[in-house]
Amino acid sequence: MMKMTKKRPDFQNDFSGTLHQNLEFTAREQYKLLRTNLNFTLPHDEKCPVIGVTSSMRGEGKSTTAVNLSYVLAENGAKVLLIDGDLRIPSIAKKMGIEKSTGLTDLLVGRGAQLGEYRSSILDNWYILPAGDIPPNPSELLGSRRMAEVIAELRNVFDYIVVDLPPVNIVTDAVAISPIISGMIVVIREGYAQKKELERCFRQLELSNVKILGCVLNESTNGKGSYSKYKYKKYGTYKYYRYYEKHGYYETPKKEAEQK
Ligand SMILES: Nc1ncnc2c1ncn2[C@@H]1O[C@H](COP(=O)(O)OP(=O)(O)O)[C@@H](O)[C@H]1O
Ligand SMILES: [Mg+2]
Repeated sequence: MMKMTKKRPDFQNDFSGTLHQNLEFTAREQYKLLRTNLNFTLPHDEKCPVIGVTSSMRGEGKSTTAVNLSYVLAENGAKVLLIDGDLRIPSIAKKMGIEKSTGLTDLLVGRGAQLGEYRSSILDNWYILPAGDIPPNPSELLGSRRMAEVIAELRNVFDYIVVDLPPVNIVTDAVAISPIISGMIVVIREGYAQKKELERCFRQLELSNVKILGCVLNESTNGKGSYSKYKYKKYGTYKYYRYYEKHGYYETPKKEAEQK
């Protein structure tokens, strides 16, 4: 018999179990650990840190991580803005069940809505800025002076800004935005990205001089769908060890329901 799960009317999608308040206990604990550890890697004197989330390739769990990180930060009482900076294949609005709405690209051309309109329905202090209309020149926009101005303004209003970005190895967007963010979180999906892709990703980021705040080892599983602390020792993961060693890492378990 099929297990019945409670579904919120606005989250009728298959990834709802991997997001914010629908997270299972172990996953939630890992995101809280990530939140705690960020306190150690973020610059201390910064008023509103801007945290970029990227990876080497698509599908590694950047957007999932960006949603959940911004959620646990807000859950802790901070005023948090999640920005969909993946102006090529935006996914935050869809993940959050937000119907057509204005977003980042509208703010960039000065026709954004009032900030209040971006407040999430889940937490009063959690705001979500979708991508807006897809522009022809995402890299240029993300690296533009106008983008820097918009971020500077938003920094006066929020305690944290989390920016979901496209993957480093596919386009230069994540590198383009580097100068205006405090640091980057790199999501690594276990057994997904190849060593040379990861190397390329880190090399690019290092060239851009962005501070790497840490790596999230996404979808770590002990085969039963639950969190395994020692997974990194197993085959398929050991080859990434060098990066964890250097930048620190956090594991987020795979949801059982999502396993193929
Ligand atoms: N830890 C996880 N457990 C189960 N499914 C996950 C996990 N992380 C991501 N996913 C799923 O994998 C797919 C890709 O994730 P997404 O966050 O959209 O990746 P990206 O933004 O890097 O392209 C989505 O369907 C998402 O729900
Ligand atoms: Mg994404």
